[in-house]
Amino acid sequence: MKQLACNFLFVNIILLIVSCSNNNHAATNSPAINKKGITKINWGNTDGKDVFLYTLTNAKGDELKISNYGGTINAWSMPDRKGNKSSVIIGLDSLKNYLQNPPYFGALIGRYGNRIGGAKFSLDGKEYHLAANNGKNSLHGGLKGFDKVVWDASIINDSTPALILNYTSKDGEEGYPGNLKVAVKYSLSDDDELIIEYNAETDKATPVNLTNHSYFNLTGDVGNTILDHILMIKASFYTPVDSTLIPTGEIKSVTGTPFDFTKPKRTGSDINNVKGGYDHNFVLNKKDSSLQIVATLSDSLSGRKMEVFTTEPGLQFYTGNFLDGKFGVTGKPLKFRTALCLETQHFPDSPNKPKFPSTILKPGEKYHTVTKYKISLL
Ligand code: BGC
Repeated sequence: MKQLACNFLFVNIILLIVSCSNNNHAATNSPAINKKGITKINWGNTDGKDVFLYTLTNAKGDELKISNYGGTINAWSMPDRKGNKSSVIIGLDSLKNYLQNPPYFGALIGRYGNRIGGAKFSLDGKEYHLAANNGKNSLHGGLKGFDKVVWDASIINDSTPALILNYTSKDGEEGYPGNLKVAVKYSLSDDDELIIEYNAETDKATPVNLTNHSYFNLTGDVGNTILDHILMIKASFYTPVDSTLIPTGEIKSVTGTPFDFTKPKRTGSDINNVKGGYDHNFVLNKKDSSLQIVATLSDSLSGRKMEVFTTEPGLQFYTGNFLDGKFGVTGKPLKFRTALCLETQHFPDSPNKPKFPSTILKPGEKYHTVTKYKISLL
């Protein structure tokens, strides 16, 4: 009996040791996943350059994934009201999928965000011709915009993990004048703020309009549309467009139109009264270029809310009107209106619209804009 008890104790001690060592194993693994800081994995290569996927983790264990291919945000994950973690930004599963030319999911856009009418503009008496990659217009920087190049990345692993991406766009690239040196800093704060700082310098006058093209679905599930998201945009005016989505040059009041989001409203309430859905630039109610809150988006299903802050004068609200299920996220097709974009920017076609705020960067000037997306629970 004594021997039996002794054996029993021995077996239990062994089990305890095994289970402790297993726990230790798990314990050393899980903090490695959730530990604040930055990790990177190899994601393949293109253009003869290595591509990586970086994960920025904040103190809460929430994660932002970015690739140096196109400066693309691949995921931004945090818990919903019930504690279930999911990404509010749409991302594809592999570099291979991004190389199939998706419609700019999460990408850094440049040299000129949105459209330039007739794919041309004049500057200092010279006419410049761009690739017409959207009907007769130029969209999001041309055939190989900043979303399709491999950026040089450097990591900042201090109190706020950050990734700095550098790219030099050569004089004449995609038809634009001047060597443009661009540096974009992505950081993730412990308060679930995704902060994007854009910097650029040129050696010849050139239009510059940088933005990020993240598609959001706050439910974290692309099986849901975004039509029940509640949106508020601090904009009393918007820029109407022609049939090719080029601004007509007018600045119109939103009052009494489907474009009135000055008070929180379901994105779906008036969408059927807008031909094709929302794909418009809103003129933000700002008097200067300080960083200010310009929009809020919320979703009662997940209990998530997003606030948008920017130094920019405009915001492109796009309701995923061209999503057609061709691309998918972890097996689920991205269908019509399952994601929306809130792209902070200067107004589309500004180089051809002298009355719009200027987008021309001159040698010696510093381009610097900041945009911040902040997620919290309702
Ligand atoms: C534009 C849309 C375009 C989309 C591409 C948006 O910024 O305004 O017209 O289809 O980008 O994904």
